[in-house]
Amino acid sequence: MSDPAGRLVGRIALVTGAASGIGAGIAVAFAAEGADLVVVDVCDPADAAKVMDAITALGRDSIFIQTDVSDEESVKAMTERALAYFGRVDVLVNNAGIFTESLLENLSVADWDRVLGVNLRGTFLCSRYLIGQMLERGSGRIINIASQLGQIGGTYVPHYCASKAGIIGLTKAMAREVATRGVLVNAIAPGPIQTPLLDSETEEWRSAKLAELPIGRFGEVSEVTPTAIMLASDDGSYYVGQTLGPNGGDVML
Ligand SMILES: NC(=O)c1ccc[n+]([C@@H]2O[C@H](COP(=O)([O-])OP(=O)(O)OC[C@H]3O[C@@H](n4cnc5c(N)ncnc54)[C@H](O)[C@@H]3O)[C@@H](O)[C@H]2O)c1
Repeated sequence: MSDPAGRLVGRIALVTGAASGIGAGIAVAFAAEGADLVVVDVCDPADAAKVMDAITALGRDSIFIQTDVSDEESVKAMTERALAYFGRVDVLVNNAGIFTESLLENLSVADWDRVLGVNLRGTFLCSRYLIGQMLERGSGRIINIASQLGQIGGTYVPHYCASKAGIIGLTKAMAREVATRGVLVNAIAPGPIQTPLLDSETEEWRSAKLAELPIGRFGEVSEVTPTAIMLASDDGSYYVGQTLGPNGGDVML
């Protein structure tokens, strides 16, 4: 039975890209379920104040660590600080991500490297440096935020789709490696969700996407967070290597 005080009481969760959008929603939803939080983002500390204040208002502890998840030294330093502060990280949410649009024929190598660097390399680096302490304790959860575009593809976004398909493959590989050692790894592949990331898409893309979405509207962050809570909590104890899809029907498997 769930703890009435919350499904994540006593857990330490680390969410990357937690200052905005889906990451901020997950961090605050986890705090509401009783978790303490490591808020990781590349942004200035001032831009994380809103999410930090929301966690404090829920009576939970949190630390902000400015980090570029695509940079190994930055991730190493972040890991050391998080573990020095809380002693452990029980749940890692690899959420930090960026999105740009370009046809393949115009896509610069720099743009390809930047998107793959944050989305896929960042997921690898944070997992690489935080999984050891989970394996030592024989317990932990890793939740990777992919995208439905990593499952079905999309025009103007070959680099983004490749990064998100890579995350799904990495999730399955990691899950197979560590499930018997107490660490469960899964992915969430949301459909289009109302966040600043979606604002950066062209009007043309937005109206074409709306027209093809079975549910006929974009999603809200609060429609993704319940899946993250489930995967992070005891409710998710039999999920291994799965990609769950709060996506408005954009992908039907
Ligand atoms: N919004 C959507 O429609 C949608 C759909 C599917 C998947 N996603 C994925 O969800 C995740 C969150 O997206 P969002 O919509 O909340 O976007 P967002 O732009 O609102 O938030 C992304 C956060 O990541 C941070 N970030 C960017 N680069 C970083 C880096 N190098 N290191 C650390 N932090 C970094 C940003 O500062 C920002 O706070 C992303 O991985 C995105 O690809 C979003």
